[in-house]
Amino acid sequence: MIYLRRPKRTMLKKKNRENPFEDPEVAKLWIKSVEGERNRSRDISLYPALKEWLKRTGQQVLDLGAGQGIAYPFANKKKYIGLEPSATLRRRARKQFKKIKIVRGDAHKIPFKDSTFDAVFSMNVWFHLRKPEKVAMEIARVLKPGGKFIIITANPGAYKRWRTFFPGSRVSGTRVVSQVKVPLVILPRQVFYLHSRKRTLSALKKAELATEKQKVPADYRKWRLFWIIEGIKPAK
Ligand SMILES: C[S@@+](CC[C@H](N)C(=O)[O-])C[C@H]1O[C@@H](n2cnc3c(N)ncnc32)[C@H](O)[C@@H]1O
Repeated sequence: MIYLRRPKRTMLKKKNRENPFEDPEVAKLWIKSVEGERNRSRDISLYPALKEWLKRTGQQVLDLGAGQGIAYPFANKKKYIGLEPSATLRRRARKQFKKIKIVRGDAHKIPFKDSTFDAVFSMNVWFHLRKPEKVAMEIARVLKPGGKFIIITANPGAYKRWRTFFPGSRVSGTRVVSQVKVPLVILPRQVFYLHSRKRTLSALKKAELATEKQKVPADYRKWRLFWIIEGIKPAK
């Protein structure tokens, strides 16, 4: 394996340290990766699962950590809102999709009123979240009773494989700071949390969200890198 030089801490502004996607250079590389990726996990397992789930939800849909709004077309005629902290990614979303609604915000403090959404989803975001318990509470708060959620995240059973994408990583507890090899490019710095399966499921349970279905789909290399959790906010 080729180990790449570790970026200097000074390369990123302080505000971009926790979420490096807020650094325009990182965001631009990410755009290139997502838009250039073909026939890998996204096309084979993630997008089909999300599209199928969206057919079964109500109208008002929130995409937590929407990136450049890649999932917006899957929501088709629904009322989609993306929440995204990175200005560069929000700009890209608006350029690609003229009618997209995408707002600035953090999943730990979702800027919407209680019971606003019929459905909340997050794709490849959960492993960037410092406090999944707080985010689960926020999802429960903004969902209407009977509203659905889906979380597409890293499969904790495949963390050993995930670690091969993080060359020269610095690990402290469950927090990993590293360069990351994504399709087509290398992101100079990312922050990941290797949340355990137990922590995620208990965060959802504590937020009174009911988990209904879990899937670990085989991807293009049969690696099972992803974990898909579906559930509902029970109507009381
Ligand atoms: C790996 S990207 C995934 C983007 C998009 N969901 C996709 O699948 O293309 C992770 C995204 O989560 C966002 N993100 C990171 N921390 C976040 C937080 N605390 N709240 C909301 N979004 C966050 C990043 O800005 C980035 O757009």
